Amino acid sequence: MSAPAGSRPRVVVTRKLPAEVERALCAEFDVRLNESDTPLGADGLAQALREADALLPTVTDRLTAAVLAAEPLRTKLLANYGVGFNHIDTAAAGARGIAVSNTPDVLTDATADLAVTLLLMVTRRTGEGERELRAGGWTGWRPTHMVGTAITGKTLGLVGMGRIARGVARRAHHGFGMKVIYHDPFPPKPEDAAALGAEGRSSLEAVLEEADVVSLHCPATPETRHLMNAGRLALMKRGAYLVNTARGDVVDEAALVEALRSGHLAGAGLDVFEREPEVTPALLQMENVVLLPHLGSATREARIGMGMRALENLRLFFAGSPLRDRVV
Ligand code: DGY
Repeated sequence: MSAPAGSRPRVVVTRKLPAEVERALCAEFDVRLNESDTPLGADGLAQALREADALLPTVTDRLTAAVLAAEPLRTKLLANYGVGFNHIDTAAAGARGIAVSNTPDVLTDATADLAVTLLLMVTRRTGEGERELRAGGWTGWRPTHMVGTAITGKTLGLVGMGRIARGVARRAHHGFGMKVIYHDPFPPKPEDAAALGAEGRSSLEAVLEEADVVSLHCPATPETRHLMNAGRLALMKRGAYLVNTARGDVVDEAALVEALRSGHLAGAGLDVFEREPEVTPALLQMENVVLLPHLGSATREARIGMGMRALENLRLFFAGSPLRDRVV
């Protein structure tokens, strides 16, 4: 499906994208698609940086300083397919004169929905119930069977209060009658938080100590790596739940396993992991943990929206206009 080469900028797309997006990209650029959907790896990415005017990478492409040192460098833009960009060494990209854009907004609802999905699944033990039923272990209704925890009237603590966290707050407060508290070093306007029924707290620790369910919505940066370490997990209430749809690096997975094993935490709902696609083996054995394969933005609408937003950034860049979603 590659467009004929001409004077059009060359774009390497690192993974298979929704067909609508690939068609739209090919109509405007000299595109190298990845029909086999095999990750390019460090060598393939370095080669793409030598051959293409722009890359359209995803979270599975580790664009490290070493990869970005590729010579001779042709690439001028990394139009990332996704809102998170911790897989890109943005300082190294900036130093090499490579711009970086992302795709905010279009996946906010999908990801907020998934955080709420995890919240409900883990508190209502639905993964566990489905596993029991499919394994033929269900003996019938009984009052004491697989009893979970109600969320109505409970407190949801949001770590970070960006777009996705605000979507979760809206759903949790207006949909489920939860009390919502949050901490963010860059808090929203008080009136915006009030409209979501959310109350700010002056520290992350205050949120952890008060919440029945903690949901993570901060970016992965060197500062937030293992933000949820043993000490902070211990600050959470006994019997609380942790939900992570942000990035795996934010949680020390070994410490989380211990907090679950000791019974300090009642459960966890995880969509992201420290070493994706690897998952800490102990988590796979725990009934009170819901594990999803990084599905936050996985709706047709969001995945097409992400592609069209990356295309918009490519179009603007090569027209010499400011990027809509510049991160570097
Ligand atoms: C995002 O947009 O950050 C998703 O996690 C996929 O990269």
